[in-house]
Amino acid sequence: RVVAVIMVGGPTKGTRFRPLSLNIPKPLFPLAGQPMVHHPISACKRIPNLTQIFLIGFYEEREFALYVSSISNELKVPVRYLKEDKPHGSAGGLYNFRDLIMEDSPSHVFLLNCDVCCSFPLPEMLDAHRRYGGIGTILVIKVSAESASQFGELVADPVTNELLHYTEKPETFVSDRINCGVYIFTPDIFTAIQGVSAQRKDRANLRRMSSFEALQYTTRSLPSDFVRLDQDILSPLAGKKQLYTYESMDFWEQIKTPGMSLKCSALYLAQFRFTSPHLLASGDGTKSASIVGDVYIHPSAKVHPTAKIGPDVSISANARIGPGVRLINCIILDDVEIKENGIVIHAIVGWKSSIGRWSRVQAGGDPNAKLGVTILGEAVTVEDEVVVVNSIVLPNKTLNMSVQEEIIL
Ligand code: GDD
Repeated sequence: RVVAVIMVGGPTKGTRFRPLSLNIPKPLFPLAGQPMVHHPISACKRIPNLTQIFLIGFYEEREFALYVSSISNELKVPVRYLKEDKPHGSAGGLYNFRDLIMEDSPSHVFLLNCDVCCSFPLPEMLDAHRRYGGIGTILVIKVSAESASQFGELVADPVTNELLHYTEKPETFVSDRINCGVYIFTPDIFTAIQGVSAQRKDRANLRRMSSFEALQYTTRSLPSDFVRLDQDILSPLAGKKQLYTYESMDFWEQIKTPGMSLKCSALYLAQFRFTSPHLLASGDGTKSASIVGDVYIHPSAKVHPTAKIGPDVSISANARIGPGVRLINCIILDDVEIKENGIVIHAIVGWKSSIGRWSRVQAGGDPNAKLGVTILGEAVTVEDEVVVVNSIVLPNKTLNMSVQEEIIL
């Protein structure tokens, strides 16, 4: 038997995701029309003998209740949200719920970060992990040398795939192979986490007895129940024939900013061509709008037949897209109205916002640039014939003049 755990974090995390995380927990923000966490969850469906999926986080339970019950019914696999009373770190959070996770005595536990976008090759990882015979296997990918330092960098044996060296976000270059935040473990992982936590307790006791505290410990130590998977577990276990790597040749991105969510929405739309083609708009029929490339349109959205949509567009529930509207590479959230001849390019339009006639909301389109994507928060009104370029607009603002390269607070 196999279980999967998805780490969803909590409201103190995801601050770089503002203003979009002001309304909704980041893991529920829609990418390709589905909550972010839905993508790893549906990938879990492909794991043989999967018995349960747990989401662990410190958001309020009610925020996930509706989603968790509907997805459990849909997948026919129980999905449970487990709430931490405070952040315990990525490994501490897992350890905190070890009794529930081990309830059905699973032989393997998948652990997934919710803020990564990839093809989640989980059955392939399970096979590789069984062949290696260690306590854990990490999904890795090759990235550019310049971007590697934002992630955990690692070195693996090219023949055996054993993890030889691991450094979390190093200041000097170690390797262009990075940790994707997707793991599979045997239940021995709990013993490893317990070891770190016990060590911390010992040190804390020692410190209490020592009068030379300042000499011995320059940094404030972490609480004994706060354990990070990367620094505290992966680094010390590297080179001990316990951890192995599985390299992905597919797409992989991390979703920390709204700009990246737009890029990842497009990646998931492209993946739908193979996994869920029924979710992509076809544009067939004389009454429907013209569709270019990959587009998702919620069944309750109303799109005028003279609008032109795509590529890489997702339109959420109850949105109204007027005549002559042009949408390219954008996320249109629930209850948005875009009036006649409005244009949205490289942008995210927040819930209940309204874009006036002949108005334009657009950006340069580089998701890594500071303002490469224009973002309108919830309930923003852009009046008729107003142009908004490379800007971020916080919720409830009305724009009656054009703006460029601005953050409207
Ligand atoms: N439940 C819970 N409790 N979740 C947490 C906690 C916690 O205390 N702390 C972090 N998380 C979740 C986050 O929501 C995220 O999904 C995941 O755990 C990892 O978050 P961080 O620990 O903040 O690390 P990171 O995202 O900066 O980097 C990690 O992931 C990268 C891949 O995306 C590292 O493992 C990197 O090495 C790795 O490259």
